[in-house]
Amino acid sequence: MSIKNGPEEITGEKEILVCTCMQSKHWPYCDASHHTLGGGEPVLVSLDPARTYKLCRCLKTKSRPFCDGSHDRIPDPARSTLFTEPL
Ligand code: FES
Repeated sequence: MSIKNGPEEITGEKEILVCTCMQSKHWPYCDASHHTLGGGEPVLVSLDPARTYKLCRCLKTKSRPFCDGSHDRIPDPARSTLFTEPL
């Protein structure tokens, strides 16, 4: 579930494939853009399915792929234009 102008919350996932080429339209998820645009291979990130995670969608976090609250420091109206599309 995506939070408007904020992170995506996920629960029940064992692993996610995280984009490292930074060209995915659905960051932090890999959408295979690296195949056509170049860049690094995605990385598999293991998660505890019992936990809820907040995944960054603004690309400003210092704790990739997780939200660290950096989106709250982006002033409006710029904030509403930064977020990647939810899957
Ligand atoms: S969505 Fe929170 S730091 Fe990016």
